[in-house]
Amino acid sequence: MTITTAPALADRDEYADAIATAVRASAAYYGSGESPLDDASFDLLVSLIQAYEANYPEHTDPASPTGKVAGGAVPAGDVAHTTAMLSLANAFAPQDLLDWEASLVRRLGGPVTGGYAVEPKLDGASLAARYRAGRLVQLVTRGNGTGGEDVSHAIGTIAGLPLELTTRDSFEVRGEVLLTAEQFERANALRAAHGAGPFSNPRNGAAGTLRAKGRAYTVEMTFWAFGAVELDGGAALPGGTHSELMAYVSATGIRTAADTAAGLTVADTLAGAQEQVDRISKLRSALPFGIDGVVVKLDSLTEQAAAGNGSRHPHWATAYKLPAVERRTRLLEVTWSVGRTGVLAPTAVLEPVEVDGSVIRHATLHNPADIERRGLRLGDTVTVHKAGDVIPRVEAPVVELRTGEERAIELPSVCPGCQGAIDRSQERWRCAQPADCGRIAAILYAAGRDQLDIDGLGERYVRALVEEEGVRDVADLFTLDRAALARAAGSEKRGAKLAERIAGAKDRPLSRHIDRTTESLAGVSPAR
Ligand code: IVH
Repeated sequence: MTITTAPALADRDEYADAIATAVRASAAYYGSGESPLDDASFDLLVSLIQAYEANYPEHTDPASPTGKVAGGAVPAGDVAHTTAMLSLANAFAPQDLLDWEASLVRRLGGPVTGGYAVEPKLDGASLAARYRAGRLVQLVTRGNGTGGEDVSHAIGTIAGLPLELTTRDSFEVRGEVLLTAEQFERANALRAAHGAGPFSNPRNGAAGTLRAKGRAYTVEMTFWAFGAVELDGGAALPGGTHSELMAYVSATGIRTAADTAAGLTVADTLAGAQEQVDRISKLRSALPFGIDGVVVKLDSLTEQAAAGNGSRHPHWATAYKLPAVERRTRLLEVTWSVGRTGVLAPTAVLEPVEVDGSVIRHATLHNPADIERRGLRLGDTVTVHKAGDVIPRVEAPVVELRTGEERAIELPSVCPGCQGAIDRSQERWRCAQPADCGRIAAILYAAGRDQLDIDGLGERYVRALVEEEGVRDVADLFTLDRAALARAAGSEKRGAKLAERIAGAKDRPLSRHIDRTTESLAGVSPAR
C-alpha cells in the first residue's frame, strides 16, 4: 500500500483506523521486516495521527505509535541496555535546525562553543556490540530502547566489527548494520540459489539477517559505529568530543560513520553544519549504501551531557531527514528494446508512484539474469529506488505481499528490434546482428504508417534487403532496382508492388522522418 497525500483524520473512528494500520505496519516492519507500508507512507500516517492528537489530546490512544521508540512495536528483549538506546528527533528544513540550536542555547544557558559533528544517518538496523578485553563478546539489537535481543549468533558475519580489537579495552560500540548495494545484490543471488525469496531492500535484509538463526547460507553485512559507551564501569573511552571518540573507535579496528565516503566533519557554527548536511545529501546517490538523513550532534561530550536526553530523543543531536528515495508500487509489464550496441534492455512499466518529487512510471531492469536473480513477477509489489538524477531502478519484489495472481515475466525469443536471433552467450543478451539490427529497426520505423507509409514493407523484406541487397538506410530504398526488390520479396509480382509503393512514398515529405529515424537508431524500440 502506498499513501502519498491524505486529508487530515476527520474523526475518532478515522483516528482509530489510522492507529490500527500504523501499529500493524510497525509490528510487521520489526517482525518479518516487511511492512505493507513503505517508509514515506508510514511517516505520513504518523504525522496525521500526531496532528489529530495535537487537536484532541484527550482522545490519545495508549496504543498510538507516536511517542514510542520504534512505534512501540518492539517488545523489550532479554538483554538490558547499559544506557538507553534512544532514537533521534527529526529536522526537515534549515529552520528546524535553527530552532534546534535555539533550544540548545536555552538548555546550555549560552551558545554552543564546541561545534557540531555532522555524519550520515545510515539506513539500517541499530546494533550494540560489546567488546571485553578487546574481544567481541555480544551483539544486542536496539529492541524497545531499554532492552534488546541477543543476536550474538551474527558475530563473524559483519564487516566492520572485528572479532578482536587492536587494544584490549572493554566498551560497547553502537552503530548501524546494513547491507551495502553490493552485499544486497549478493544476498539476493544467494537467497535465490537457496530457494528463498529476495529481500525487498537492503535495510530489511540487514534487520532480517540479524535475527535469522540457522540459515544454510551466510549473508555478509556491514557495520558503521556512530557512538560508544563504557562497559562494566570501565573508563576506556576518551571523554572530550564525539569526533575524538569516533577516532578512538576507528583506531581499535571498528568501522565508524567517519570511515564512510560521507565522512564525519566538525563545523564551528550551525551554518557550517548546514553546509555539511547539504554536502552529504548531494553525495547520497553516489554512496554505495543507503542513508535516510544526516545527523548533527554537539561535538563536545560535556555540552552533550549539559543538553541532556529526553525520554525518546537526546537533546544534543538531531536527524536532518532526506526525502524517501524508495517507494513501493506494482510491476505492470516489462518491455524490451535494443540499444545502439545491440544489448537488449528490459524496462519495468510501473503503476505511477511519486518518489522524491517526481512521478516514476518506468524503471531499469538490467538484463534477463537480473530479472531472474531478483525473482520478479508481473503484478508484484516492488520496491523502486530513485536518488538524485540517477535512473530509477526496481530493487526487488515484496514477496510477503504476493496474492498468487502474479505471472512469470516472458523473456524475448527474438530480438525486439529486428525480430532476428538473440545472442544469449553472456549475461547481457544481444541482438545476434547488432549492425544490421539498428538498420532494420530504423528502416522499419521510417517505412511505418505514420512516416513514409510503405504498406507491405515488413520485417522479413527489410531484413532481406539489408542482409542480401546491401541496403544501409531508408534512402537506399529509393535507389533499388526491381530485380533486387523481387529477390527480397520472393516474387516478381510482390517486388513490383513494393516498387510501386516505394515510388509513391517518394512524394511524401521526408524531413521529420529523418529525425525520427535517428531517434530510433539511438535505441528506441521501432513502432511496429
Ligand atoms: S546517533 C542517542 N548517529 O538512527 C542517539 N544514529 O532514528 C543515538 N542512526 O537509533 C543515535 N545513523 O539506529 C546516530 N550517525 C548516526 C546514525 C544513527 C543512523 C540510526 C540509529 C538511531 C536512529 C534514530
